[in-house]
Amino acid sequence: ADQSLDLLSGRSRANSKSKSRSSSANGRLSADDFEFGDVLGEGSYSTVMHGTHSSTRQEYAIKVLDKGHLKRNNKLHTALAEKNTLVRLGSGHPGIVRLHWAFQDEWSLYFVLDLARNGELQSRISRMGSLSTACARYYAAQLVDALDYMHMRGVIHRDLKPENLLLDDDFRIKVTDFGTGKLIDVPPERATKTFVGTAQYVSPELLEANETSKSSDLWALGCVLYQMIAGRFAFQGLSEYLTWQKIKQLDYTFPDGFDPEAADLVRRLLVRDPLERLGAGPPEDQHSMEALRSHPFFASIRWGTLWDDPAPPLE
Ligand code: ADE
Repeated sequence: ADQSLDLLSGRSRANSKSKSRSSSANGRLSADDFEFGDVLGEGSYSTVMHGTHSSTRQEYAIKVLDKGHLKRNNKLHTALAEKNTLVRLGSGHPGIVRLHWAFQDEWSLYFVLDLARNGELQSRISRMGSLSTACARYYAAQLVDALDYMHMRGVIHRDLKPENLLLDDDFRIKVTDFGTGKLIDVPPERATKTFVGTAQYVSPELLEANETSKSSDLWALGCVLYQMIAGRFAFQGLSEYLTWQKIKQLDYTFPDGFDPEAADLVRRLLVRDPLERLGAGPPEDQHSMEALRSHPFFASIRWGTLWDDPAPPLE
């Protein structure tokens, strides 16, 4: 709670209890309508905090972005892009963090998001060393389903990694952090040129042609699937530069015991030509992800009830 006072620059919330959404000065939601709790995560321009809506007691994750810091670094447009992306994704998919409200005050932008209580998939992989094949299959399937949804709406994530895959109360995946997301016209799709992303998950076309498309998210899916099962990065050099060399040379190997069907799927995703990756398909094809869904690795997945089926036990 002390941190929230700092964030709000000492603004008194003494009378905030009596304020409800409808009775605040301009009839809109504000930071005063929430009780701020623990810090859940920190980024370069933002802090994600636990927030409880005072009157409904509903809990959220509130991403607080520092306007001054954003302005000084010319990043206000990225915050706006993140908001627009979240708005475009709406509330239509259980595997994507939903934006409930966005508001601002003199100092900060606030994104009120779904709370994912079980933290990052990254922590789970680190703690367990690696995931069981059944678990990896379940999370990979949910990621395929969420990617299909966002790609159909013209959203490329561009920074998929286990840190951006949160786990909700039921240990289902929620994709978050659309701060480097890209909105494209749907259809047709044009490749876009900007460097973003995290070294270990960056696709070869981004390194070589500085281009990303939906297919770059498929490359990252291959990297994430590999990492869940192997417990280490597919591509890891002693420096970022050496990691990029390995990516460009497709220099990776499977550890002993890696599930053969998972390995087959990884091999079909970690393909240099973006158009040749499984699930890529031509830009106007709205059903290209079916090729991923029908891969043998997913044979036991019930796609119709994917978001209702319980997560496999974490071994
Ligand atoms: N950390 C970052 N975003 C979060 C969220 N939506 N829920 C829980 N923890 C988070």
